[in-house]
Amino acid sequence: MHNVPTAQAQLPPRNRFIINLSIITLQLRLGEDHLKALILAGGFNTRLRPLSCTRPKILFPVLNKPLLQWTYERLAKNNISDIVLAVFHQTEVYIKQHRVPRQNLHITYSRDPLRKPLGTGGSIKKAEKSLGQDSPFLVLNGDVFADVDYAQMLKQHEKNQCTATIALHEVEDPSRYGVAELAKNNRITRFIEKPPLGTAPSKLINAGVYVLSPRIFKYIPEGQPVSIERDIFPRLVEERELYGYVHDRLWIDIGKPEDYLQLNRILLDDKGTQLGNKKRPYIQIRNPVAFAHGVSIGRRSTVGPYAVLGRGVTVGENADVENSIVLAGTEIADGAEVHGAVIGEDVYVGVNAHIRRDCIIGDHARIRDNVSLPTGTSICPANDVVGDNYPEGCR
Ligand code: GDD
Ligand code: MG
Repeated sequence: MHNVPTAQAQLPPRNRFIINLSIITLQLRLGEDHLKALILAGGFNTRLRPLSCTRPKILFPVLNKPLLQWTYERLAKNNISDIVLAVFHQTEVYIKQHRVPRQNLHITYSRDPLRKPLGTGGSIKKAEKSLGQDSPFLVLNGDVFADVDYAQMLKQHEKNQCTATIALHEVEDPSRYGVAELAKNNRITRFIEKPPLGTAPSKLINAGVYVLSPRIFKYIPEGQPVSIERDIFPRLVEERELYGYVHDRLWIDIGKPEDYLQLNRILLDDKGTQLGNKKRPYIQIRNPVAFAHGVSIGRRSTVGPYAVLGRGVTVGENADVENSIVLAGTEIADGAEVHGAVIGEDVYVGVNAHIRRDCIIGDHARIRDNVSLPTGTSICPANDVVGDNYPEGCR
């Protein structure tokens, strides 16, 4: 038998090595590039009202950047460029209005029918054509900040040859989440969505990041509301087709105001202090802080620690803002104090007004001069608050 000389065989050994390496790199890149991602982005959240009355949770700014932009950036960094957004009509309008930078991703929309939400499972089924039948794909709950290693997760999924691998994260109180019981080989032996307090089988919760094989589509009926957590995962457990990937890096669901503030605090510790060390006469900046473009601060004011001020926020003189998130265009007048609160866009906080811990103020609200809001007050968008006679927020 003749050995047919190939171009590679005729090269000196060193070049052969280079060609082999580049073939391997090419294959890896192609593999990653083919991993598509579906972002579940339908819901408007109730616990973050009144701020979520005027924007979906995926557009909440985190260190002055929409949560969706963090997700896009993470996907781009992992060479995942084909993205499907599963949305409600209204969410799509908000996303388009926001013009979130796309990081060169190829983004398409899969829409739930008008006034008929399909649920987490139904909207995955709806995207079946876009996701294709060829290879596993990634599904992300759009409302969580999760620094998951997608490549590792995919590797584990392929090793187990299962229908679904879900990222699991340990938390103190699992009752607000889906909870998994994990066997030694990473197979999930029980999955319970939002178990009653004290009944959770473990502290490992569903982190809302899945690798699914296309055979998942056979489990989901078409055109009707299906919850992947309640209707599908328990079936996969029975058929020994559900595996867990333990994720111990940063993970936060921003669904509650205190979690939203906490995520910003964690990232401030990591990436904050944009203005911190500059000397500013007559102003006290306490690190860490993050200021977007066009922030202005008056004399003798104290800002920080843990203050995130959005684009064009103005803080008057003698004011004090700490441990708070203030969205774009808001004005905090002279002598006002904002401690531990989340304040929406284009809000006016009057002279000597006090906004205390866990207050949430909706967009365009006006808190008049000298008003003092008790801890945990929420104010609806565009409300005009005079004295202590104000309507309770839209919880
Ligand atoms: N398109 C579409 N249609 N998206 C939807 C729909 C729908 O009908 N329902 C929910 N979503 C999206 C939401 O926008 C969110 O990004 C994601 O699916 C999860 O839905 P949530 O409503 O936020 O669920 P959850 O937070 O109560 O619980 C889920 O997340 C937890 C982690 O944060 C579950 O997956 C839990 O098991 C999990 O622990
Ligand atoms: Mg959620």
